[in-house]
Amino acid sequence: MSDIAETGPCSFVIFGVTGDLAARKLVPALHALQRGGWLHPQTVVVGFGRSEMSDDALRERLGDALAEHLDGPLDDAWHDLAARLHYVRGNYDDAAAYARLADRLREVGHGDHVYYTATPPQTYGDIVTGLADAGLADESAGFRNLVIEKPFGEDLDSARRLNALVLERFRESQVYRIDHYLAKETAQNLAVLRFANTLFEPIWSNRAIDHVQITMAEPMGMEGRGSFYDAAGVVRDVFQNHMLQLLALVTMEPPARYDADAVRDEKVKVLRALACADPEHAVLGQYTAGRTAVEGRSAPDGRMAVEGRSASEGRLASEGRTAPAYRDEPGVAPGSRTPTYAAARFELHNWRWAGVPFYLRAGKRLEAKASEIVLTFKRPPHVPFDLPVPPRADRLILRLVPDEGISLRFNAKQPGQGIELDRVGLDFAYQGRYQRPNPDAYETLIQDVIEGDATLFMRADEVEVQWKVIAPLLEATAARDPLPYAAGSMGPVEAAELLERDGRSWYRPRKA
Ligand code: BG6
Repeated sequence: MSDIAETGPCSFVIFGVTGDLAARKLVPALHALQRGGWLHPQTVVVGFGRSEMSDDALRERLGDALAEHLDGPLDDAWHDLAARLHYVRGNYDDAAAYARLADRLREVGHGDHVYYTATPPQTYGDIVTGLADAGLADESAGFRNLVIEKPFGEDLDSARRLNALVLERFRESQVYRIDHYLAKETAQNLAVLRFANTLFEPIWSNRAIDHVQITMAEPMGMEGRGSFYDAAGVVRDVFQNHMLQLLALVTMEPPARYDADAVRDEKVKVLRALACADPEHAVLGQYTAGRTAVEGRSAPDGRMAVEGRSASEGRLASEGRTAPAYRDEPGVAPGSRTPTYAAARFELHNWRWAGVPFYLRAGKRLEAKASEIVLTFKRPPHVPFDLPVPPRADRLILRLVPDEGISLRFNAKQPGQGIELDRVGLDFAYQGRYQRPNPDAYETLIQDVIEGDATLFMRADEVEVQWKVIAPLLEATAARDPLPYAAGSMGPVEAAELLERDGRSWYRPRKA
């Protein structure tokens, strides 16, 4: 982020402004940027939606949602921003609506434009066409950046078609394909850890690393997204994007510069060398009813406590509360075969990583919220001590959610006579080290789009290669029934066997 002197005024258009994403993520992010002084004072926000509504009604609606998000009263930053909030009504396939939008932007807007598609994916084509036909992709009076939310397509073919459609009307440099995981502080820190230090790079390869695990566990169920999720499933929802992006950040070669082209060139190169090792052995699961607990507090028995929320039930999970089976969630087809959990082994076919397995797992309604990357190092080739059990392998743990930070776990000598090992750690946690909370990923992403920095966004070829990598998992999804696992567990037992076969076991995420 640079300061506002470097960015001009911007007209920020939100398609789908009355939807969930705008209320939960975009407006809070714009408000936080306004409060932090990051938005140019003349920046305007223009909401576009299908409902009949006045500017004032939109301000009130978004203000209410923001107050709920802040869990407190609205502040001056909001009132300043709300005064520059406008509304245009229209259908996404109606050329006249885009002409009205263009008029409104001429009337209230300034300089650069950002168009954000916070709408269902089936509207993306209409929005692209509508904007371009109304002259709104033309950059003679300032940049015109288009933000496309995930999912970007539903398989390789549809992603290619969507890329072709978008790139007929916008240039690649105008297109910002979102993956909010890239803006999480620990994800960004991976590049710094690797390329701003000399300590790690010499051991960052198959010479020292035994294997890598990437986990994205969520205690939440469908939260009102049942019908979307039932068509997508875990592989499309998070494997195709967040999980593969994290893997690419761990494994890419050092870029010559930290800019959009150089970083994305390196990610694409490594993703091209990536393959799902054995789809036969990939584990697909679906949750059945079970018990969940509340996030952030330990349950009385000391188990990790997690939170589940559902739009229909509000704050759903009280301690030990029963969560419904996936098939009983609103919006989910009764006999659905959609997987809500997947675990698979990937391999990278290049010099640096040949022979190092990458185990990826993600799921809904798991025991705890935990997104983390764990690098397990090789064991010492010879242990000169007389120990009852061999020393455990060293581990480097990169935590994205919760408690963003980095820990190194290794063996040390316990004080006293003789040699007895203790497991100790070096820890860096953002919380504690810095007084301010980390910005939400959407704050970073919105600021980057306004500044025209695409480093944390996906390029056309990157999205396509990711669909290619997960194609075998999508085929497995279509061919098999998912294995059951109880809500509140860590997934199907078969996932443990996936690693046991290789003489390894899953790392257990730290309890918050
Ligand atoms: C989204 C997925 O991309 O990421 C959701 O569609 C998931 O299903 C979410 O819950 C998780 O994001 P975070 O930032 O809460 O880990």
